[in-house]
Amino acid sequence: MIVEAYERLPIALTVNGRSYDVTVEPRRLLSDVLREDCGLTGTHVGCEHGVCGACTVLIDGRPARSCLTYAVQMQGASITTIEHHGASGELSALQQALHERHGLQCGFCTPGIVMTMQAWLDENPEPTEEGVREALSGNICRCTGYQNIVDAVLVAAGRQADMRKAGK
Ligand code: FES
Ligand code: FES
Repeated sequence: MIVEAYERLPIALTVNGRSYDVTVEPRRLLSDVLREDCGLTGTHVGCEHGVCGACTVLIDGRPARSCLTYAVQMQGASITTIEHHGASGELSALQQALHERHGLQCGFCTPGIVMTMQAWLDENPEPTEEGVREALSGNICRCTGYQNIVDAVLVAAGRQADMRKAGK
């Protein structure tokens, strides 16, 4: 099927377990559709070139740049955004540790870091500092430096381990 650039297509997005019916031009980016059509403005847009990581969401459980993804590609996919964290009314261990360790200042990069690092921690439950730094390397923060973010991720990993031991 050939689709003209200006043609608008109906798509059904599943975001944080909820369905959104939107009509979009094929050129619309997932990041913009999440923010403007779904009202989920926690996903931030920085570089729009796939470099900074601010726009990171999970697509079928894997971190992905929403600024490099067309919304029309997402029919049938399950998308998770930062709004999923805290939906229970409580901060996640990672969010709490970032708060306590001053791992954020302006906070612009933080949603992308939480999405990236939570997925990574789920696969790497006993991280080293070196591992955290490598995993963070795709997320650019312009105002905290990285030490406090690294500390927070390590603190969160320890707390998640304690919670697992306690069967929570
Ligand atoms: S806005 Fe997507 S990587 Fe920077
Ligand atoms: S906290 Fe400001 S860009 Fe990271």
